[in-house]
Amino acid sequence: MLGEGKLKQLHELIESYSHEELVWINGYLSGIVANRNTNGNAAHKNGHEIKPVSAKKISLVFGTETGNSKRLATHLATVAKKKGVNAKLADLSQYRLTDLSKEEYFFIVISTQGEGEPPIPAKKFYDHIHGNELSLPHLKYSVLALGDTSYPMFCKTGEDVDARFEKFGAKRVVPLQKCDIDYDDDAEAWFEKVLAVVEEQTAIPATPAATVKPTAKKAGGKKYYQGTILTNINLNDRGSNKQTYHIEIGTDEVIEYEPGDTIGIVPANRQEVVQRIISLTGIDPLLELTTAKVTAPVGELLTQHLNICYLLTSTVKKYATITQQDIPDTRMDLVDLLRIYPVRNTEQFIEFVKVLMPIAPRLYSVSSSPAAHGENEVHITVARNQFLAEDEQRFGLCSEFLGDQPVNSTITFYVHKDKHFKLPATDKDVIMIGPGTGVAPFRAFIAHRDATGASGKNWFFFGEQYFATDFLYQTEMQNYVQTGVLTNIDLAFSRDQEEKIYVQHRMQEKASGLYEWINNGAYIFISGTKDPMSKDVERTLLQIIEQEGKKTSEEAKQYLAQLEKDGRYEKDVY
Ligand SMILES: Cc1cc2nc3c(=O)[nH]c(=O)nc-3n(C[C@H](O)[C@H](O)[C@H](O)COP(=O)(O)OP(=O)(O)OC[C@H]3O[C@@H](n4cnc5c(N)ncnc54)[C@H](O)[C@@H]3O)c2cc1C
Ligand SMILES: Cc1cc2nc3c(=O)[nH]c(=O)nc-3n(C[C@H](O)[C@H](O)[C@H](O)COP(=O)(O)O)c2cc1C
Repeated sequence: MLGEGKLKQLHELIESYSHEELVWINGYLSGIVANRNTNGNAAHKNGHEIKPVSAKKISLVFGTETGNSKRLATHLATVAKKKGVNAKLADLSQYRLTDLSKEEYFFIVISTQGEGEPPIPAKKFYDHIHGNELSLPHLKYSVLALGDTSYPMFCKTGEDVDARFEKFGAKRVVPLQKCDIDYDDDAEAWFEKVLAVVEEQTAIPATPAATVKPTAKKAGGKKYYQGTILTNINLNDRGSNKQTYHIEIGTDEVIEYEPGDTIGIVPANRQEVVQRIISLTGIDPLLELTTAKVTAPVGELLTQHLNICYLLTSTVKKYATITQQDIPDTRMDLVDLLRIYPVRNTEQFIEFVKVLMPIAPRLYSVSSSPAAHGENEVHITVARNQFLAEDEQRFGLCSEFLGDQPVNSTITFYVHKDKHFKLPATDKDVIMIGPGTGVAPFRAFIAHRDATGASGKNWFFFGEQYFATDFLYQTEMQNYVQTGVLTNIDLAFSRDQEEKIYVQHRMQEKASGLYEWINNGAYIFISGTKDPMSKDVERTLLQIIEQEGKKTSEEAKQYLAQLEKDGRYEKDVY
């Protein structure tokens, strides 16, 4: 197509460029070509000289409860930048809803929490898109949904968000990608597709078109381990208000886990409750039924597979429809529902069993280390969950189930890896704040550092109600102090004196030492109750940074945000 002279000129020019420069020119030329109309004229600006086409902006928003979506979206934003795409990163809790109409490329990373609910920080956004009929025909979008296949409503929030944008007339440029707990490969593959679309549609210079790889196929899904209970003891002494079980689980095979991980357990329902349901409905427990996921005798379904506790309002509604009764919008246990609003016949009950959801797993932080306790063992520290319902003292399903497990009984579990709540290099100092069952991952951390002879210093803040009855793992911790593994331990027993003393008060008392550790590079970890504990502790950390570092409150916030970005401030809270 080119004459001999032009072709020669072109070859000479090509010879003078480096590989990188050629890649850039390639992108630049495709940009020019994409912007010319078929008559060979520039498609804009009245045919004036074409300027290099600049990379378009995309918005990458995340909705997170435990930080995975945030970390992932932050990582994906850097991947985009490297490819010349400017990704504006935003937390959905901070997102200005009125900006939606101005977006062009809108990519959402969002997890599912609770029982198929959005993460709390993303609730305002979720409610906004569900409570309004928007028109967004110009918007191009895709959703990356984080979830866990063990939950009955796998990636429900991502599905909901994806469906709403479709309803608003937005263009789904890459299909919804649902991810299990090992989300990295699926997320990378999804984003590669996203970038390929953006690059193709915006003709970005300097970037060769991305090759779209098919989404990586999972080898065999989650790995479930069959374990045996080796030990199950209550760590609280007689007279305590609490029961906290130290449970050791042994397996025949090596368990692939590290301190900082959690294990997921699906509890069984209590036999006496299942018996009561059978007698209230008159159903034959041996009658075989098929539900969404399993076929088994009703007795087994109600014991091992289906959730009969604290039914969702939507499930209670289905019961009201099947039994044709007027039941207020509420949540309650199946046994109470059957007692207060009985079924007319077993057929109604059979129909209802088929719509019951599976039992959701519960997560427990591991309190052991393979290096210290062996590779065929994992330990957990479980607080018996207590609450009032129907004017009765009741107990949480899984914590009661675990507390009741006798030695030698069998249990199934899976490992939920946490890549971020992890011990740093052996020479780094570590500050651990873990009242109550928050002690669990730190028992694992400290045992691991002891077993591996790590040289970094360790500082542990622990709190509970009473020293005499509630100092969990007291002997072990005192030994660690004696042998020097624990450099510092600070204890807060809230009810041993008139005024309440919590871990954050102990931290404030040690403000200058804490700031010195942090400034010298220590890593900070918080574990235990999210609200109010982890929030109070974070507020105290900010005060300490402000006061000891002579910073303004804004500077203190930035300082802590930087620690978080550097992976030096991690939380495992629930
Ligand atoms: C990352 C992570 C790590 C965790 N680590 C630990 C750990 O190390 N140790 C630990 O003990 N826990 C830990 N947990 C918490 C644990 O997963 C469970 O949430 C906890 O044990 C309670 O579960 P449960 O089945 O006993 O209670 P559930 O049966 O799930 O009940 C929970 C709550 O629901 C409400 N409820 C239930 N039924 C009714 C009803 N009929 N009427 C009214 N209200 C009702 C009550 O408020 C009750 O307290 C962790 C959680 C996460 C997310
Ligand atoms: C208490 C709890 C409830 C959860 N409920 C669901 C659920 O209903 N469906 C689901 O797919 N995943 C569920 N998950 C799994 C999370 O979505 C998954 O761990 C995700 O990686 C968390 O991402 P985030 O840190 O960005 O919030 C739940 C996790 C927890 C801890």
